[in-house]
This record gives sequence, C-alpha cells and structure tokens, in this order.
Amino acid sequence: MSGTGGDHTTGIQDPDLTGAFAEMGAQGEDLWIDVIRQMDSVYADLVSSQVALEEHNTALEQARGFLGSVLGAMTDVLVVCDAQGRIEQVNPALTTLVGKSAEQLVGTAILDLFRVEDHADLLAALDALARGQAVVEGREWEAIAANGSSGALSVNSAPRRDASGRFAGMVLVGRPIGELQRAYRELGAAHQRLRQTQQQLLTTEKMAALGRLVAGVAHELNNPISFVFGNMYALKRYGAAITQYLAALDEGRSGEDLAALRAKLKIDRVLADISPLVDGTLEGAERVRDIVQDLRRFSANQREPLETFNLVRLVQTAVDWVIKTMRDPPEVCFDLPERLDIVSRKGQLHQILVNLVQNAADALASGQGEAREQPPCLSLSARQEGEEIVVRVVDNGPGVPASVQDKIFEPFFTTKPIGSGTGLGLYVSYTMAGKLGGSLDYADAPGGGAAFTLRLPAHGEGGDGGGDGGEEAET
Ligand SMILES: Nc1ncnc2c1ncn2[C@@H]1O[C@H](COP(=O)(O)OP(=O)(O)OP(=O)(O)O)[C@@H](O)[C@H]1O
Ligand SMILES: [Mg+2]
Repeated sequence: MSGTGGDHTTGIQDPDLTGAFAEMGAQGEDLWIDVIRQMDSVYADLVSSQVALEEHNTALEQARGFLGSVLGAMTDVLVVCDAQGRIEQVNPALTTLVGKSAEQLVGTAILDLFRVEDHADLLAALDALARGQAVVEGREWEAIAANGSSGALSVNSAPRRDASGRFAGMVLVGRPIGELQRAYRELGAAHQRLRQTQQQLLTTEKMAALGRLVAGVAHELNNPISFVFGNMYALKRYGAAITQYLAALDEGRSGEDLAALRAKLKIDRVLADISPLVDGTLEGAERVRDIVQDLRRFSANQREPLETFNLVRLVQTAVDWVIKTMRDPPEVCFDLPERLDIVSRKGQLHQILVNLVQNAADALASGQGEAREQPPCLSLSARQEGEEIVVRVVDNGPGVPASVQDKIFEPFFTTKPIGSGTGLGLYVSYTMAGKLGGSLDYADAPGGGAAFTLRLPAHGEGGDGGGDGGEEAET
C-alpha cells in the first residue's frame, strides 16, 4: 500500500501539517487494511452465494425439466390462466391441438382458445372458482383446433391459489371427446362380444339339457317299441297258423281232420288274441308318435307359436323324462286337476318344468337332508288362480341356504361339482318364464326343502316368448 500517505506525496511544507498528516497516514493505513479485509470477506460471501445460487439454479432446472416432461406426457390438454383469464401455462397436448406454440399463447386470453358459444360458460366457471367453488366438472367446450381436427373437450377446472391461499387463477384439464367416444365404442364392442359368448353358453346349456333328456327319451321309446315288436312277431306266427288252416280248408279235408288241425294250431285262441294284439300295437305306436312329437317340440322351441294345450299332461311328461333316468327315483305326488288348459308355448314350458324337476331330483339324490323323517319326495301341483296358472315344484331335500337364495337365478351359479352343473338351468327358466309373461320364484318349503312357484298367464298374454312375435292364441 505504498503511495497512500506521507508528506512526500502531498508536497506540504508546513511542519505542523506534515506531523498531522503523518499521524493520519498511520491511521489511514489501518483503515485501508480494514477495508481490504472487509472486501475480502464480502468477496468470499459473494463466491459462496454464487455457488449456492448455481446449486439452486440446477435444482430449479431439474424441477422444470421434470414438470415439463410430465406436462409433455399428458394426453389431456392443460391450460393455466390467471384470475383475469390470461394464459400462464399450457402443455404440448394443447399446443398440438390448437397449432400454436406456448410462447404465442402465454399472455393471451384463455377465451380465444375456445368457440364464442362457450365463452359465457367458461367465464361463469372462472367466476364460480373465484368465489370459492372447489371444482367445475364435466363441461363440454370446443377448442378452435388446427387443421380441421375436432377440438371438442370434456373439461374439468379447478382453482389455483397463491402462497397466501388467495385465488390466483384457474387450472383447466380437457379430455378430447373423440378419445372418449372411441373408448365408448370399444366398450360397446366388448359388451357385444360378451353377449355373444353368453348366447353361445346358453345354446350349449340347451344342448346339454337335450343330451341329458335323450337318455330318458331313449328309455321311454324302448318300452313301446319292444312291445310293438313282440306283438308283430306274435301276429306273424298267428298269420302262419291261419294260412295253414285255410289251406287245409281249401284242400277239402274231412271235418275230423280239420277239427284236429284247428286244435293243434290253436286257431280259436289266435282269433281271440288278434284284436287286443292289434290294439296294443296301435297303442305302442301312438306312444312312440307322442314321444317323437314332444321331442320335436322341445328341439324346435326357439320360434314356437302360442297354442292351447293341457298343462297337466305336460307336467306329467316332464316328470317322466327326469324320473326315468334315475336309478333310485323319489316318490312323486301329483296334485293336479283332470285337465288344465293354458295358452302358452309348450316347448319352453316343458323346458322350465324339466329344469325344476331335475333340480329337485338332484337335491333329493344328493343324500343331504337324510335326517328328515319322511322318505325323499317330490310334489307337483298346478291350478288356476284367476287369470293365472300357478305350478309348484316342491321337494323335501336340503333346500337353498338363505345366504345364496338371491344368487340361484344368476347365470353360472351352481353348487354342484364341476362337470355336473352349469348353473344355467334356473337362469334360463327364470328368463323364459318372464318372456312367457309370467314369473318364477323361490321359497323355503314348509318343513324344509325347496319350493319353486311358476306363475303364467292362463291366456298367453304378455311376453314375446318365441321371438317370432305376432302370433295369436289359438283359443
Ligand atoms: N330344489 C333345489 N334344492 C336345493 N337347491 C337347489 C334346488 N334347485 C336349485 N338349487 C340350487 O341352485 C343352484 C342353481 O341351479 P341351476 O339349475 O341354475 O343350476 P345347476 O342345477 O347347478 O346346473 P344346471 O341346471 O345348469 O345343470 C344349484 O346348483 C343349487 O345349489
Ligand atoms: Mg339345474
């Protein structure tokens, strides 16, 4: 620090002054040293502040980069505006949609992004948020999109608040409706596929039910057919005997000879037997014809017409079909009138009854509820109650536990082992009963067991049943 003080630098000749300056020079030097020290410390402070600032800057850059990458990844559009509706921030989804850069948009009015028709609604949303509303949801506004693409958006807006919690503007997030529509279409297609699969399963269930019944039907057919065969063989033998006797007559044999031959060929018994034999054969053939008719009706029930028929006979056939397949059939009690005419669709009704009877038979055969005092028993009743026909299928098996009573009519609900039940029987029956204009309900049977009640309009009103529509009841 030379040249900073001393008389030789000032050229002052006065000895007093020189002394004073000498003293000041010594003080000045101290002052300078002090100043320099302070400058050093300030400089060191500056350097460390600079380092801290740079670190903050790096952190800030990273935060900005992170935020930018999040905004860039959003497929929904995002716009942030201040309390006056001036744009402060946008994301790339929006800049792409409107075909303008963020720099072009920031500072402009948010209203200019949208069609004039939406301005009032948008301002109302901004106002509502400024007044403290937490969110404005589900608005459909249309952004003025670039290159003719659709700018329709489903928009949710929320308030943005400053550090002191005051309303500072609005954050608006919009989902392009085109995308929503596509998602909706995909959902529709998936639903359609599901319905088709369900339909296929129903068809499979019908085929399975038919398969189960074929065993019963084969058994049913076997009896009358063997009966007819037996009769035909007997008639053939009788024919041969009669032919032989007639030939003897033609030959003009003596009365004694003829009488002996007549006795030997048992012609009198043959003649007496022919008529009941023919009647029996006819009966057997008729039984075969009925069974075949039932079968055809069952398989063709998809588009069957309404018709008038005797429900009592249908109930009996349904029970026969199920019971005949069982090794150990339960006792069956019928409480049926002589005849009960109904206008309905025979095949569908038959299928419902078979499903109910099959379930009851399964429940009784499951062996559960064996502690009961009575032997396994299945009761069927049918009667007319006003305009309705009510059929009840009741068993004294284990019944349906209360916990699953609301599930038994659902598709695929089954408590049977894998491979024994599809869980579609009651669902199909419930749906069919509804289509026939009736209903199917469950209740616990008094004294334990299950009681299913099928109600049907006696005159076939209501329901489109067979799906071919337009048929009239043949009353
Ligand atoms: N009479 C009944 N007694 C006790 N439980 C029954 C009776 N009927 C139906 N259920 C219960 O309801 C369930 C559903 O019956 P559903 O007829 O829909 O299907 P499933 O008989 O199991 O199978 P599927 O009929 O398709 O072969 C049965 O698994 C059984 O648990
Ligand atoms: Mg069933």
